[in-house]
Amino acid sequence: MSRNQNRSKMDKIVSLAKRRGYIFQSSEIYGGLSSCYDYGPLGVELRKNIKETWWNDIVTSRENVVGMDSSILMHPKVWEASGHVENFTDPLVDCKQCKNRFRLDKGVHKFKCTNCNMKFHIKEGQIGGRKKYRECFDDLTASEPESYVNSTCPRCGKEESIILDKVACPKCGAADLTDPKQFNLMFKTHYGASEDSAHRIYLRPETAQGIFVNFANVSNAARAKLPFGIAQIGKAFRNEVTTRNFIFRSREFEQMELEFFVRPDASEKWHKEWIESRLEWYKKIGINEKNLQLREHGSDELAHYAKACVDVEYKFPFGWAELEGIADRQTYDLQQHIDHSGNKLTYYDQEQEEHIVPAVVESSAGVDRTMLTVLADAYWEDEANDRVVLSLSPQMAPIKAAVFPLVNREKMPEVARDIFEDLKGHLPVEYDDSGSIGRRYRRQDEAGTPFCITVDSQTLEDGTVTIRERDSLEQVRINKEHALQEIRDRIN
Ligand code: GAP
Repeated sequence: MSRNQNRSKMDKIVSLAKRRGYIFQSSEIYGGLSSCYDYGPLGVELRKNIKETWWNDIVTSRENVVGMDSSILMHPKVWEASGHVENFTDPLVDCKQCKNRFRLDKGVHKFKCTNCNMKFHIKEGQIGGRKKYRECFDDLTASEPESYVNSTCPRCGKEESIILDKVACPKCGAADLTDPKQFNLMFKTHYGASEDSAHRIYLRPETAQGIFVNFANVSNAARAKLPFGIAQIGKAFRNEVTTRNFIFRSREFEQMELEFFVRPDASEKWHKEWIESRLEWYKKIGINEKNLQLREHGSDELAHYAKACVDVEYKFPFGWAELEGIADRQTYDLQQHIDHSGNKLTYYDQEQEEHIVPAVVESSAGVDRTMLTVLADAYWEDEANDRVVLSLSPQMAPIKAAVFPLVNREKMPEVARDIFEDLKGHLPVEYDDSGSIGRRYRRQDEAGTPFCITVDSQTLEDGTVTIRERDSLEQVRINKEHALQEIRDRIN
């Protein structure tokens, strides 16, 4: 797919999400608050399904993982100990020409290939790391060649190019920037009536710290033995400098985090196990495995606390991007909180008869990114049948079945309503009798509803209804009394 087609696929997903009640722009009637989103009737159901499936897989189905729910506002010392006050920053620069403010690693280097003279640019943050090429600046004016670097030309593949400029603005191309300033991504607020700096606290930028500071409380209450995990789902806030791609990067989002505590000498083994297990989970919720990949962080990208980190990436319409990070955080977090709080966050190993600081393997996934993944992976256009379809797995689908009378007469609406009432207490279902039957099917296809149950004239004669399957369009007749069991069997 070309860049334009991919862009238009994103636009189509955004407009479907609004039309069908999945996702709305926050505060839309006031012009919207950028990069904040509200979730509509189908959106909340899909999020609930994502979170429930995660919780079942991580907590309910395992003997050695327990859950918790910590507060969003925490003691400011938590963020000093965790390193967020000092390190959770982005270097920002301003372009003196066009006044664009951007993260230094989003700046670009302009290059000219020494072989074919192709001019192209590479993001500052990708030099030395993974190199990706964007389209060249057509209006590039070559200054004196500054230096030679080994940078593969996207056209002829030659591994030597002239670097034409220092870091330049990605918007206007000028290499006329201010010195970088560190910008902390944590949202600040004040605790109580006083607004002085002594009362400054933060909205949590990750849920993980709520788990670390409760390590002793939870492990004592649960009488946990290593290896064991503590899981949490909750909101996190980051004053992101660049927000793009719909709900992929927003300022308020939700995380699903597992902190799995292990003996320090076992962290590598558990890191590998969790990577496999998390990749499998995305397949289990219906994501096409061709669109999933693992990517190991280079040493220059690792967060301040991690020894190793592997991302699960998804091939979004805008390219491969991180869905979740699985990090070997070693003993960093507990040790920092021991040092800063003076509390004993150690574990007594009865076999070895010693107190140890456990290491931690973390799986940190985003609810919003998983939701975008689920929607993007499910979206397709069925040209042959002139419809747009969200092929959500029945387990993820917000509405499991829709019940229709074929026409609004001859007792069909009454019979259909009875079936709807029977199903309603057991499954999320919808009743619809407005518009032609074709339009009603198409509405449900777009909403991702896997099954439609239709009452027609034959129902009035023999008590059977049709069940239509969304993707194959296959229809079977079953007795209306069996509708609930049939839908349940198909979901499972
Ligand atoms: N506790 C580790 C941690 O927070 P992270 O890589 O910064 O690690 C983990 O974030 C996950 O949280 C990401 O993989 C992503 O799914 C989600 N996430 C992070 N920042 C986000 C943002 N601004 N908008 C939406 N999701 C975000």
